[in-house]
Amino acid sequence: MTGGAPFSTPLTQALGCRHPVVQTAMGWVAGAGLVAATTEAGGFGFLAAASIPSGQVDGAIRAVRAATGGPFGVNFHMLQANADEVIEAVLRHRVRAVSYGRGPDAATIRRFREAGILCMPTVGAVKHAVKAVELGADIVTVQGAEGGGHTGAVPTTLLLSQVLDAVKVPVVAAGGFHDGRGLAAALAWGAAGIAMGTRFLLTTESPVHPDALAVYLRAGDPGAIRVTTAVDGLPQRFIETAGLHRLEGMGLPARLAASLRHALAYGRASGLTLPGMLRLAWRSAVTGGAGFAATVMAPNLPRLVERGLQGGDVAGGLLPSGQVAALIGRLESCEALIGRIVAEAAARLDAAQALKGGQA
Ligand SMILES: Cc1cc2nc3c(=O)[nH]c(=O)nc-3n(C[C@H](O)[C@H](O)[C@H](O)COP(=O)(O)O)c2cc1C
Repeated sequence: MTGGAPFSTPLTQALGCRHPVVQTAMGWVAGAGLVAATTEAGGFGFLAAASIPSGQVDGAIRAVRAATGGPFGVNFHMLQANADEVIEAVLRHRVRAVSYGRGPDAATIRRFREAGILCMPTVGAVKHAVKAVELGADIVTVQGAEGGGHTGAVPTTLLLSQVLDAVKVPVVAAGGFHDGRGLAAALAWGAAGIAMGTRFLLTTESPVHPDALAVYLRAGDPGAIRVTTAVDGLPQRFIETAGLHRLEGMGLPARLAASLRHALAYGRASGLTLPGMLRLAWRSAVTGGAGFAATVMAPNLPRLVERGLQGGDVAGGLLPSGQVAALIGRLESCEALIGRIVAEAAARLDAAQALKGGQA
């Protein structure tokens, strides 16, 4: 555990963590080890269930519980094959919170809340924040365009103001955070805390392959960590790699054919029958709002990201990342990271306070 706890915010009070620092879910990254390390360090970790195979969700939650007595959450989305398994496991284990992007319906959200589980969706646009609160969100995480994974078009500084003005629930700022300056700024803005993905990917507890970590640590230019729709049809931010260039160089028919191959492999690995796969594709088409091409291309993503992050195939696979990777440059333990961030933020806010009335 880290030393002092200088901040008590609506986020720490609701989640029961010591510091207003959330480790967001990242497929193939935010497994039980990283979540437990974050939570032990006084932050709040989200387990990424989107990359947990069918039949293994219960075991993954148990593994976090075995490693920490602290609070943690589970992230999932409704387009993963085992979404129902995740929902039931979360309810059974009564984890502290769930997070989601393409999330469940109001009835499922009600079931979570009745079980005392906080609903904490991530949004990339103000209209999605308003909708999420209407559906029952307790806390909203806003992710600005500079963030990793699927991302919107509005930068954190603008989106945060928009959402703070539009909703009454606590708001957590995400997209581009990595240090105490960011936490101080977010709190001064009116946010209840910060959430970080890429910064936690670059910790000593991260399970990412060393060859992939080396690429993230060498990324020196935020402009080269860019958005593409070539992978699954939706805007998503990646480090520029040969794999990304190859995918972008393929015509749409070739990308669709690659996707079909990935879909068949995904179906086999998830134990899905052909009707099960068709049902999932249909659910994606009607609830994902992504259009036909995006639905058909969706299976490209998991296989290629797994290959990059877990397999360390930095040429053939993909490396999702926030632009902030270009500012990091070194691994740190979760404990050192969170401790440093809260200490820096407290010092920054003291310094800012001293500016009032010309005391500096
Ligand atoms: C490698 C990687 C994988 C991600 N996977 C997921 C995921 O499975 N589910 C999700 O909701 N968000 C995912 N995200 C988005 C993060 O949870 C988070 O919102 C984002 O990284 C925040 O921006 P930052 O990287 O600038 O901190 C991913 C991000 C990265 C970098």
